[in-house]
Amino acid sequence: MSDIMLEIKNLHVNVADKEILKGVNLTIKKGEVHAIMGRNGSGKSTLSYALTGKEGYEITKGEILLDGENILEMEPNERAVAGLFLAFQYPIEIPGVTTMTFLKAAMNAQRKAKGQEELSTPDFMRAVKKTAQELDIDSSMLKRPLNVGFSGGEKKRAEILQMALLKPKMCIFDETDSGLDIDALKIVAKGVNALRNENRSMLIITHYQRLLNYIVPDIVHVFSDGKIVKTGDKELALELEKQGYSKFDEVS
Ligand SMILES: Nc1ncnc2c1ncn2[C@@H]1O[C@H](COP(=O)(O)OP(=O)(O)O)[C@@H](O)[C@H]1O
Ligand SMILES: [Mg+2]
Repeated sequence: MSDIMLEIKNLHVNVADKEILKGVNLTIKKGEVHAIMGRNGSGKSTLSYALTGKEGYEITKGEILLDGENILEMEPNERAVAGLFLAFQYPIEIPGVTTMTFLKAAMNAQRKAKGQEELSTPDFMRAVKKTAQELDIDSSMLKRPLNVGFSGGEKKRAEILQMALLKPKMCIFDETDSGLDIDALKIVAKGVNALRNENRSMLIITHYQRLLNYIVPDIVHVFSDGKIVKTGDKELALELEKQGYSKFDEVS
C-alpha cells in the first residue's frame, strides 16, 4: 500500500474561460498536515474547489489522485464518499433543519453510498453525543437549525463535529480562520489536532500565519499566481509573516 494520500500533478484549471491554476504539483503523504499560504487572488480557493469538483471549475490538464484513485472522474458526492472533506470559508445556513438532522442525513448518505445500513436514530444519537463530548462540544447546539444565528465559533464546532462523524481521510480547510476570534481559532485547532492521525491527511489553506501557531503543519507551501512557488517546513510560514509575499512573486 502506498503512503501517499493526495497527489496533484500539473493541474491546470480554468474559471470562466480564464486560466487560474497554472500547473499545481502537490504530494501529501498519509498522516501529514500541509499548509498553503498565499495572497488573496492567488488561486487557493480555486484549488480547493477543483479538488471537491465544484461546478464551473474546468480542469484543462493534470491529474488528482486520492489514495491512488483518480477523483477527476467522480461527482462531488462520490469524492466525499471516497474520503474528501472541505470545510468552507463561509458555512451555509440551513433554516428549519436542525444540526442534528443535518448530521444524521450526512452520515446516512455516506453509509448508503458505501452500501452500509442506515443508522437508527438512537444509534446516531449515541454516536453524536459521544463524539461531541470528546470534542468538548455542547450538545444543546445540535437542536438548533444548522448555522442559523451561530457565532463564528459555533459554526466551526458544528463543522468539526461533522468531520469527526464522517471520518474523512483528506480534510481541506479553506481560510477556515478568517473572521474568527482567538477563542474560536483555538476551538478549530483543538478539533483539528484531535482528528490528526496516521491515516488522515490535512490541507490548511490560510492567508495568515496565526492559525499555524495552533495547528503546526509538517510542510508549508507558498502559492503565487496559480501555482506552488516554494515549499519548506513550518519556519517558512514565519518567514512569510515577517517578509510578506512580494519576495515570492519575483520567483514565480
Ligand atoms: N467565479 C469566478 N469567475 C471569474 N473569476 C474568478 C471566479 N472565482 C475566482 N476567480 C478569479 O480567480 C482568481 C483566484 O481566486 P481564488 O481562487 O478565490 O483566490 P484565493 O482563494 O487565493 O484568494 C482571482 O483572480 C479571482 O478573481
Ligand atoms: Mg480563497
